[in-house]
Amino acid sequence: MAPTQDALYAEIDLALSWSERDLPERERTKHVHRLHPYLGKFIPQLVEILLARYFRPGQHVLDPFAGSGTTLVQALESGLDATGVDVAAFNCLLMDVKTRSYNPFVLEQELRAIHARIGETSADRPSAYVRRWFAPQAARELLGFRALIDDYEHADALRVVLARAARSARRTTHFDLEFPREPQLEPYWCHKHRRECRPVETASQFLRRYTLDTLARLRAFSRVRARRRVASVIHGDVREEQLPGRYDGVLTSPPYPGLIDYHEQHRYAYELLGLDDRRELEVGAAAAGNSRAALAAYSEADRDRRQRPPRALPGDPGTRRPSARRTSASSRKSPDRQACGRVLRGRADRALNRLAQERTSAYGRSPAPA
Ligand SMILES: C[S@@+](CC[C@H](N)C(=O)[O-])C[C@H]1O[C@@H](n2cnc3c(N)ncnc32)[C@H](O)[C@@H]1O
Repeated sequence: MAPTQDALYAEIDLALSWSERDLPERERTKHVHRLHPYLGKFIPQLVEILLARYFRPGQHVLDPFAGSGTTLVQALESGLDATGVDVAAFNCLLMDVKTRSYNPFVLEQELRAIHARIGETSADRPSAYVRRWFAPQAARELLGFRALIDDYEHADALRVVLARAARSARRTTHFDLEFPREPQLEPYWCHKHRRECRPVETASQFLRRYTLDTLARLRAFSRVRARRRVASVIHGDVREEQLPGRYDGVLTSPPYPGLIDYHEQHRYAYELLGLDDRRELEVGAAAAGNSRAALAAYSEADRDRRQRPPRALPGDPGTRRPSARRTSASSRKSPDRQACGRVLRGRADRALNRLAQERTSAYGRSPAPA
């Protein structure tokens, strides 16, 4: 017999569980959390609660698989310092843009200045990728924006705007923005909008909208982040990095083995920005699948890392290392926790919002292109 709702809820940590009504999308994507879509991220409120449970203001949290930087952003909001490591260059760019301190006057002046120049074109020749995935006018507008970026001090924020606009301006269907396989060249029946839609022809509208949205989101975050707390971003394979400093704890969600390709989901950004592609170093890469052998290799990588003498993870035996692995529902996907050398001291289960389980969840998406 299926367990009753009461029996199910008795096992769930209600402080970590929300209904759609309790935690609407605009809260889950508050301020910089929606600077750019990212598939497979934490709900910020989950991080907020775990930080409050396990850390004190002024302490330093490490996220060794920091992704889009949810831990770092929430740490700054909760009055902690944070360090995030990620092997994917675009993720590091995104985290850095989210967590950097800006001079608000310069930021506003620059974003408004480039906003006024959107539509200028450049003599850059489009690459084969750009010719394939963008209509000719969209490609000209994106390359025109890219040519302006280096004129500005806050070039990295503009790179994120360019990537987000490129994502929306690709020739894809509205319902397949995450991993489109082939460009969509003809009008198509759109399941999402229940009407015929056409592939996008231009990018300026996205560049304009996202430039202003980025300004608003960075400003909103600057109002809630703690003064004098800092976030550091390290681009590298965490198994090999010599991490500086000491940490009071670790809060992380490691890759889901074989499920998400963390480089490929932002391919357009790597192509347009010329970022360093290190996908072969991804732990649990989607390309490796989730066969028994792939899961064994995933556990092995984790065990190797844990058995090496601690380099930067806290050597002090008194240091607590709370891990979201133990508390997030995604922990169930980690193969064989005991075999990985961790000791399970406690466990909190949380309910998953229906949307959070779907690949097309609103947690990781920007508004669909108009
Ligand atoms: C589940 S995601 C983390 C998402 C994050 N919690 C957030 O809220 O955005 C796992 C991350 O681990 C990164 N990763 C995979 N292999 C890595 C490695 N060898 N070293 C460092 N990071 C790695 C991936 O690029 C991905 O961003």
